[in-house]
Amino acid sequence: MIRKAVIPAAGFGTRFLPATKSQPKEMLPIVDTPTIQYVVQEAVDSGITDIIMVIGKGKRAIEEHFDRSFQLETQLVAQGKSRELELIRHISDMANIHFVWQKELRGLGDAVYCARHHVGDEPFVVLLGDTVIRAEVPAVSQLMNVFERYQESTVLLEEVDRSMVSRYGVIDGREIEEGLFLIKDLVEKPDIDDAPSNLVIASRYALTPDIFEHLSATKPGKGDEIQLTDAMRSLVAEKAMYGLRLNGKRYDVGNKLGFLKTNIEFALQRDDIAAELRAFIRALAKTLPE
Ligand code: UTP
Repeated sequence: MIRKAVIPAAGFGTRFLPATKSQPKEMLPIVDTPTIQYVVQEAVDSGITDIIMVIGKGKRAIEEHFDRSFQLETQLVAQGKSRELELIRHISDMANIHFVWQKELRGLGDAVYCARHHVGDEPFVVLLGDTVIRAEVPAVSQLMNVFERYQESTVLLEEVDRSMVSRYGVIDGREIEEGLFLIKDLVEKPDIDDAPSNLVIASRYALTPDIFEHLSATKPGKGDEIQLTDAMRSLVAEKAMYGLRLNGKRYDVGNKLGFLKTNIEFALQRDDIAAELRAFIRALAKTLPE
């Protein structure tokens, strides 16, 4: 039974500069809610009780967001803003969240490695802090179901256009049942021509704790960073590993275009603003050149 989740959120967010110069990209809002709050909600909805968030310099806003704000609560009580009060209290009550520091940003693999003492000797999930997934069954819950069956590391997969593979970790695998793959190998950000498939790792992982031994032996790879994919490649040489095709939709909020599209899509489903936004988009569309 998996109880713990690691959420790496220490990255510089260079694709989103200058906004991320002094604020975490994980705090950029989707309509009015920080991206990372959706990520924590997904973990909680999947039954996770302990969250280890990996943060770094300039990321204090994340800690503050999940902490209680007594001053704000007192103010909201005085103003009779009960709905807002409920929203604010919900955030600090969501889960048991621990923060660990990644002192030097040496890559995603290193960020996960920083959480090893908090994770201990039990399986855990990893959710990237800048990616939201909408699904009927929460994405991490889908992964955990496969983990329950095989007790081996499992990653979420998505089929992307071949032109996009060099942005992701890509798997080589065999489909053993509808949507479930036995992974033979993995490669981080391959050139299009070298990619073993167009099935990419979609920002969610369920891992056995022996990944930490492999991470400790992993040398910097693509981009001179310690890559989680490289440690998993070493793990899959020893043990079975599975990939599950995502049943849902992934929103990468860590780049400008993804952020804008996500905001529009989510806003169009909000009762308080959807009607006005629809009218605005229709009017705007008429002015756009073909
Ligand atoms: P990304 O590669 O998307 O984040 O990592 P980044 O490095 O911040 O992005 P750019 O390319 O500079 O714009 C995915 C997740 O892993 C975290 C990030 O915060 C993000 O949520 N991460 C990445 C770490 O925690 N530590 C790292 O050293 C690298």
